[in-house]
This record gives sequence, C-alpha cells and structure tokens, in this order.
Amino acid sequence: MVTEQTQPEVNIGLVGHVDHGKTTLVQALSGDWTDQHSEEMKRGISIRLGYADATLRRCPDCAEPECYTVEETCPEHGVDTETLRTVSFVDAPGHETLMATMLSGASIMDGAVLVVSATEDVPQAQTEEHLMALDIIGIENIVIAQNKIDLVDDERARENYEQIREFVEGTVAEDAPIVPVSAQQEVNVDLVIQALEDRIPTPDRDETLPARMYTARSFDINRPGTKAKDLLGGVIGGSLAQGTLTEGDEIELRPGREVEEGGSSEYHSIETSVRSLQAGGHPQDEVGPGGLLGVGTGLDPSLTKGDALAGQVAGEPGTLPPTRNGFEMEVELLDRVVGEGEVEEISTGEPLMLTVGTATTVGAVTSARTGECEVNLKRPVCAEEGAKIAINRRMGARWRLIGVGTLTE
Ligand code: GTP
Repeated sequence: MVTEQTQPEVNIGLVGHVDHGKTTLVQALSGDWTDQHSEEMKRGISIRLGYADATLRRCPDCAEPECYTVEETCPEHGVDTETLRTVSFVDAPGHETLMATMLSGASIMDGAVLVVSATEDVPQAQTEEHLMALDIIGIENIVIAQNKIDLVDDERARENYEQIREFVEGTVAEDAPIVPVSAQQEVNVDLVIQALEDRIPTPDRDETLPARMYTARSFDINRPGTKAKDLLGGVIGGSLAQGTLTEGDEIELRPGREVEEGGSSEYHSIETSVRSLQAGGHPQDEVGPGGLLGVGTGLDPSLTKGDALAGQVAGEPGTLPPTRNGFEMEVELLDRVVGEGEVEEISTGEPLMLTVGTATTVGAVTSARTGECEVNLKRPVCAEEGAKIAINRRMGARWRLIGVGTLTE
C-alpha cells in the first residue's frame, strides 16, 4: 500500500484567534507527514501560510470513532489501516495584523476547522472575524475544535461549549459540530478526523476545463551560493480550482509582472512551462484540483522569491480571466465591524484593501453609491465577473473586514 503518493484532494483551513492552537492541531493531524517534504519546500511554505498534508485513515478492526487515525498501523490491533483520503491543511495566521493573509488563504479552502480555546471567553476578536470571513467567502463546511480541554475542568468546558453554541447561532457555523480536543495531548484527534470526514466532503471539480491555479505562495528554492548552471527555476505554490497540470505544459500567469515603459508602468502576463510538480510531499507527473501543489517553472527564481508571485492566477495561455486595473462591484456591508461597532457606508475617495482570490490589493474608491462602488487598483488583479471580494477598511492602525463585494464589470 503506497498511500503516501496520493495527491491531496481537498484543502481544509485552520482558522481562529491567535494562540488557540491551530498549528498544534495541524501537527496532531498530520503526524510526521511534513517531514517528507524536501527541506526547501518545508521551509518555504510554512512561513507565511502554514501548510501540511495528512492522510486520514481508519482501522478496519476498531469501532467508531476510535478507528479514525493518521497512523499507518493501528496501535491497538497492529493491522494496516485503510486510507480514507489525503488532505491539505492551510494554517491561517490568527494575529489581527495578518487578516489579509487569512483572507487570501480562505479563498483556496474547501472547508475549515474553527479552533476555539476553552481557556478564554468566546468570542475572541479573530474567532469572530475569521468566522465572518468564512461566511463572506462562502465556506460552509465547518468543524469547530474546542481546544485545550486539558487545561480546564468539566464545568468550565461545559460553560465554554455553551458560549460557542451561542456565538455561532445564526451564523454559517450554526450546525457545525463542536469537538472538544486537546491538540497538544492528542486527545480526541479521532473525533476530529471523523468530523472532517462527515462535514468537509471533497468537492466535485471539473478536470476537463482548462487548468486554473490560484497562487498563494512563491519561492526561490535554491540555496544561497548555488552556481548559475545548477539553479532551479522559480516555484509557485497554490491550488488548482479546475483542470489538470502536466509536466511540460505551457502556462500563463496573470496579472504577471510590472514592466516600466516610457515613464509609465503596466503589468504584462508571464508565460513559462511546468518543469516539475509536487503534491502530497512527492513529485507527480500530473496533478488535478484539490490540495496544495508546488509547481516548478522555467522562471528566473528572482521573480518568484519571497512570495513575489502570490496572488497570481496560472493556467493554459489565453484561457485566464482578464487582468483588471479597476472594477465595479456590488457591495454588501457587514452589520458591524469586530470590536468597532456599526459599519459606515463606503465613500468616494477612501482606500480599501481588497482580497480577490488569493490576491490582495489596495484600491481607491472612485465612485460610491449605496450597494455598489467602483475602484481603481494600485496593483491589478486577474478576476472574472462574479468573483467574490473581501472588503477591508482602514481603521486606526489596521485593516478591518467590513463587507463582501461581487465583481460586476
Ligand atoms: P497562531 O498561528 O499564532 O495564530 O497560533 P495558533 O493558533 O496556531 O496556536 P499554536 O498551535 O501555536 O498554539 C499556541 C500555544 O498553545 C502553544 O504554546 C501550544 O503548545 C499551546 N497549545 C495548543 N494546543 C494546546 C492544547 O490542546 N493544550 C495545551 N495545554 N496547550 C496547547
């Protein structure tokens, strides 16, 4: 059984307030799987948006829910466990200043685990803001992990559970199961896997459409001092929403890169080829939609260094949505901003931070009417009509999520 070769088929986000245990839960769920990545990939990917793959399994001889595990051999019965599926975890940062990173990560999530610490009152600021973001982006398959139960007594655990129930009432997570866990002590990891299997199904995707990949990261995987002749091309990391990629394919990236010409600058799309593919910690000849991929390209690695190409869309040349320097959108404002109260209407001239797919850009509002507005972007985005846009407004020292837009033109 060579299950480790399997490409992850679904992206599961870990969201929630800072220090509530997202990374620890990913570790508990992914076992030592991340060790199978090349050092370069591991270093590169875990910095900004955390990333790990895991193969979820079940023991044929154990009863539910104890049968759910990430171990290849059942510790109870000593038998080989059966593979259920391989998943990618996208670990969003919980710090309030990293909301843009969370939002761009959310655009490639098929479902999410909202991690809530049992040691604090509910909701903490980013527990609420991340849940709003899931709602805005349309992520409906949610599991709630009530973490750190090893640190609280029964009474506090129950009280906290009730607070969570009350908090999610009327939200997209209203029916989400709440699983008490200790990520650190690996208590109830089987219940989390069971909930992931029940609540976050692998979505149907069309592999026959032209490839469309949303780039969340990009890297230069060469060690410092590598000789020019040994340099490997730039790597982009992200997820395919549709279609397949095969080694040797020609791809285009939009919006591409900024080119200065005669005193003004504009973005030109980039064309390159797929030199290597990695998914599930292994090289692959062909990859389909689902989990996170690393795509080795023929690009000069200085172009991909330090996430320079994060937010781009990649696919078959000529098939990508247009690059836009501005757009019109229908706007639906939230009732209130986390920690700030009511949301005021958008006004002409104000700057907004907009997340479109995995791209984050700042736009100046050139015209605002109730329910719609027009923006001019500082950096263009590749997006099609109907794309969902997370809208953030500057409030004090940071950007706050205030609503959702739908690109109309
Ligand atoms: P950010 O990525 O910064 O938002 O944090 P995070 O949510 O990923 O939290 P992280 O997993 O880094 O955990 C924060 C701290 O809580 C670490 O010191 C963990 O060891 C600890 N921790 C996480 N889960 C548990 C748990 O179930 N029990 C106990 N006792 N400690 C835990």
